[in-house]
Amino acid sequence: MRIFNAIRPLKKDEKIPYKLLLLADPSKELIDQYLAVSTLYIAEEAGVVYGVYVLTPIDSNIAEIKNISVDESHQGKGIGTLLLRHAEDTAREKGYKTLIIGTGNSSIGQLYLYQKMGFEICGIKKDFFIINYKKPLWENHIQCKHMILLSKTL
Ligand SMILES: CC(C)(COP(=O)(O)OP(=O)(O)OC[C@H]1O[C@@H](n2cnc3c(N)ncnc32)[C@H](O)[C@@H]1OP(=O)(O)O)[C@@H](O)C(=O)NCCC(=O)NCCS
Repeated sequence: MRIFNAIRPLKKDEKIPYKLLLLADPSKELIDQYLAVSTLYIAEEAGVVYGVYVLTPIDSNIAEIKNISVDESHQGKGIGTLLLRHAEDTAREKGYKTLIIGTGNSSIGQLYLYQKMGFEICGIKKDFFIINYKKPLWENHIQCKHMILLSKTL
């Protein structure tokens, strides 16, 4: 599995791929906050980064995928699925028992993908996107207001 093997942590001296991170999360301020306490993994080929995910420790048992993103020209080819599998393997290897991921109430495709991958809805952060983002967010003709939390036992 060539792509899977191309996923690796970003090195300290490498450029942070903000363009990709901002596809999943429009707040650079929030991205910088969680990057400070997380590991950023990239899928890269010939110097071009086309996928990312951010793994954040919550406590000794729980890790969270704070951001997952695939370059628009590469979406729909199974890379997001591979990044999720990689995140699961990485979190399990690091000793975490549960992996969580949050997404907006309007992110229908993402809710489909995460549940298809075995994540189950475990909570909701009411008004998260209204409180934490300056501008209203809309997707699929639905206002993105709440964060839906999903978890998977590793
Ligand atoms: C979400 C994302 C990472 C998925 O990556 P991907 O490489 O496109 O995902 P895959 O190709 O592995 O797709 C797996 C399945 O999920 C579906 N899917 C994934 N994202 C979808 C979306 N945004 N809308 C509709 N369907 C989607 C695919 O159609 C596919 O369905 P299938 O298996 O029945 O064919 C990617 O769409 C993306 O970067 N989106 C923008 C950033 C974002 O929203 N990140 C998540 C924030 S919570």
